Amino acid sequence: MPPAPGLSPEEFRLHGHSVVDWIADYLASPESRPVLPDVRPGEVLARLPAAPPARAESMDAILADFRDVIVPATTHWNHPDFLAYFANTGTAEGVIGEMLAAALNVNAMLWRTGPAQTELESLTLDWLRQMMGLAPEFKGTITDTASSSTLYALAAAREMSPELSLREKGLPGRDLPQLFVYASGEAHSSIDKAVITLGLGRSGLRKVPTDSDLAMDPAALSSMIEEDRRRGAIPLAVVACVGTTSTTAVDPVRAIADVSARERIWLHIDAAYAGSAAILPEMRYILDGAEGAESLVVNPHKWLLTPMDCSVLFTRRPDLLKRAFQIVPDYLTVTEPESVVNLMDYGVSLGRRFRALKLWMVIRSYGVEGLESVIREHIRLAADLAAEIRSEPGFELLAEPKFSTVVFRSTRGTTGPEVNDRNRRIVEAVNATRKTFISHTTVRGMNAIRIAIGNLRTGAANVRSAWELVRKADSEI
Ligand SMILES: Cc1ncc(COP(=O)(O)O)c(C=O)c1O
Repeated sequence: MPPAPGLSPEEFRLHGHSVVDWIADYLASPESRPVLPDVRPGEVLARLPAAPPARAESMDAILADFRDVIVPATTHWNHPDFLAYFANTGTAEGVIGEMLAAALNVNAMLWRTGPAQTELESLTLDWLRQMMGLAPEFKGTITDTASSSTLYALAAAREMSPELSLREKGLPGRDLPQLFVYASGEAHSSIDKAVITLGLGRSGLRKVPTDSDLAMDPAALSSMIEEDRRRGAIPLAVVACVGTTSTTAVDPVRAIADVSARERIWLHIDAAYAGSAAILPEMRYILDGAEGAESLVVNPHKWLLTPMDCSVLFTRRPDLLKRAFQIVPDYLTVTEPESVVNLMDYGVSLGRRFRALKLWMVIRSYGVEGLESVIREHIRLAADLAAEIRSEPGFELLAEPKFSTVVFRSTRGTTGPEVNDRNRRIVEAVNATRKTFISHTTVRGMNAIRIAIGNLRTGAANVRSAWELVRKADSEI
């Protein structure tokens, strides 16, 4: 008989151990590499064969390419100087969870195809619900990203108006009024994408004005909905953002929930980044009023030490989520009672990775108090940086940091475009050093510098170093 292809158990043990050693070293000192690689587009492709190998290659050769080609061209999100976008952490505990999930290779589409996986997802998300102080009615489901979670939430929102029969009849060729979703102009582009994907068109997303803190104005929301109804449109949902991407502004959830309850529309809360902060008793206020929401998304893969990918969609209306997505072809029928959860019913994907395992391992390994202290420290580091910026002539904060993200700019320059250009160049110059990685945003038309703390290993020295690089770049432009 020809030998079975693939690694023998002994070979797997050998390579597996060496890979675990590599991971241990990597996670012990991600700062030994530059956070940003010195690589140009196309360089990785040019170093690897364009055609697949006809014959089996040795794991030694494959791992050598991983080490020599892939790793040097990687942006290291695990690096303590990664301060761009929303920084995250792939903890060792999370990596163990990923390894074991890959080994089991379960597809938990049905309870029977993954009993432990289905039930662990339900248990772990109920832990997270308790940690965030959400009402017991919220049931969680794991998706890949907040973009998917929001898409699913808005698909479920359509089921709140069964008379429209959107699931069965769709939109084309029907004489329907315009269907609207509301969100502030600061909301994440994933809301636009969800609205586009659901066939409502970009004009189906109504951008609600914001106040001086860039948070949604609930009175404006209320009048927009009234006006739209008067014109014959049908409001379907509102998305409140707790922690906007640009400045981490917090929409007033309770006031928005009052409007959504009065108008009988779905309230979805996008707390992809900042929702994790609600595990701190002193930050719980950010979700005040969330009991009035139909759904909420939070990404443990952003600020809760869980490796990519792990987004959680909580909903008080799992029945409507299921109504939006459940389709059971013959080959997927089961004999378990209707009350038994089959994860395939709660989203677009049939197949389900075992993502709950890594989150469960992270929560158990750190404990709620351990996770709280990481987030609390990040918030403290951001507050310290904000204090420095406030007292530095020639710089100004563009938003008061509530979480771990600081948004500011250099004010040097005589005209608006000149100041904007200076700030764009500062970010470019700082990142060109490859000693730190920061990002940019626009606040009320002003180009801004954005430092986001979210990596477990980021400490005061990393934040200070980024701030000094910003000041140096500003002085040299
Ligand atoms: C507020 C907010 N919502 C949604 C998203 C989208 O997240 P994901 O990459 O998980 O789709 C982001 C990403 O940063 C975000 O900041």
